[in-house]
Amino acid sequence: MPKKRSPEKRELRIPAHLAIIMDGNGRWARSRGLPRQAGHRAGTENLRRTIKACGDLGIKILTVYAFSTENWGRPDREVKGLMNILADVIDRELSELHANGVRLRHIGELKQLSSKLQDKVRGAIELTKENRALTLNVAWNYGGRQEIVHAIREIVKAGVKPEEVDEALIEQHLYTAGLPDPDLIIRTSGELRFSNYLIWQGAYSEYYVTPTYWPDFDRAELEKALENFGQRERRFGLVLNPSD
Ligand code: FPP
Repeated sequence: MPKKRSPEKRELRIPAHLAIIMDGNGRWARSRGLPRQAGHRAGTENLRRTIKACGDLGIKILTVYAFSTENWGRPDREVKGLMNILADVIDRELSELHANGVRLRHIGELKQLSSKLQDKVRGAIELTKENRALTLNVAWNYGGRQEIVHAIREIVKAGVKPEEVDEALIEQHLYTAGLPDPDLIIRTSGELRFSNYLIWQGAYSEYYVTPTYWPDFDRAELEKALENFGQRERRFGLVLNPSD
């Protein structure tokens, strides 16, 4: 009897730090004849599922791009809608996130948000600061260039001499200080751009782009990305076999 071939075993590589550009909410909504806000709501539901999936898979750090410094240029109604979503998520999900050991961090500039929203975000960070099951960095009013400007300003303010400035010092002043760089950055909806996301930290990250819109990026899609990541050869600018 011919031996039955077993399906190939899928190897998932689990990144210590996964970053995601959650793109395509608007197109997801349009393709269903819905308003853009419905796409953002569906994207929020998917973020909740993704946090759970990351926890189950043993991913320790997840960084999500939710509101960029450029997003202020969207229609007022959309900006307000997104701010409301952030407030709702904190009101509704915080206790469950906390119970599940999620540490919430914010990357970006809080100052331009309403003072009520700033308080909510600070309260959530304070409440969850000792949690370690999963660190969730929410990039909100975040821009990679703005982050580097912020770091340089802090360094200049501290009166550091030019010869004392090095990569380690800059890293200590980024919003992600103390965290490892992302191993993998996933972008949904097929766009092949960085869009000002983690431009310092992503210098050696692997990129993975899928045409799937963010609200539809489910656990199976995440596992496909991790399988693809498992096939990458990370060289960090070095050669693998110096004797060749
Ligand atoms: C990009 O899709 C998505 C955004 C600008 C918003 C992402 C925000 C969420 C998923 C809300 C939940 C997040 C938190 C942390 C509460 P797009 O609108 O640019 O889509 P398009 O390119 O198809 O128009």
